[in-house]
Amino acid sequence: MNIILFGPPGVGKGTQANRLKEKYNLLHLSTGEALRAEVKNQTELGIKAKEAMDKGELVSDDIVVGIVVNAIGNVGDAKGVMLDGFPRNISQAITLDKVMEEKNLKIDYVVSLEADRDIILKRLSGRRSCEKCGKDYNIFFSPPKVEGTCDECDGKIIGRSDDTEQVHLDRLKVYENQTEPLKKYYAEKGILCNIDGMGTVDEVFADISKELDSK
Ligand code: AP5
Repeated sequence: MNIILFGPPGVGKGTQANRLKEKYNLLHLSTGEALRAEVKNQTELGIKAKEAMDKGELVSDDIVVGIVVNAIGNVGDAKGVMLDGFPRNISQAITLDKVMEEKNLKIDYVVSLEADRDIILKRLSGRRSCEKCGKDYNIFFSPPKVEGTCDECDGKIIGRSDDTEQVHLDRLKVYENQTEPLKKYYAEKGILCNIDGMGTVDEVFADISKELDSK
């Protein structure tokens, strides 16, 4: 099974992906995470991508497509791929279709998470993670036991560089203008599954699982 996890910034794609990859044995491919790793390692690609990421803009298609093409088809023991944060515009969606076709694969479902704007902004403004082990926290919904310190490894809890109020608004605008129109593209292919992302992490996970298990 190959799926796309779709939805606005902060709706909970990464959070759900971490659970879904275990349940369905999928290779989780997050273009955002891959790009952040390149930025952290100060690679040529990371240096090129950082400026757009810090402004909440899309990184150029050629950079992002390269990351995805290399990974698709190399899923190892996994039973498919779960794309998170890709595609984000129509040109990426068309390229993905071509790549999948060349590899004799197809996207089976597009799981589209939706939530109200005020919930999304609260989730984004509360997002933190451990600098050392990467464990995710949210100061409103899942805070560490001791403020600023990881429960698992005593590492420092930090925020993402693109998690500022202005960049949240800019990322939401980019989503509405360039990414959201893809829902129509996938609805016309008959593979769009709309999921209410407003509930707790457990509730949303149960709803996605129910939808995928019914297919
Ligand atoms: P990317 O990392 O993909 O960011 P995004 O799509 O904006 O999504 P986020 O990671 O912000 O949110 P999410 O939906 O994963 O939510 P999360 O689970 O963390 O991209 C970053 C940048 O990279 C882009 O701006 C762009 O520059 C570039 N980029 C990436 N892909 C690209 C592409 N294809 N083309 C061009 N450029 C690209 O949850 C958020 C918070 O809410 C967390 O704290 C979590 O704990 C909490 N939470 C989640 N679910 C719940 C719940 N149900 N209840 C309570 N809290 C919850």
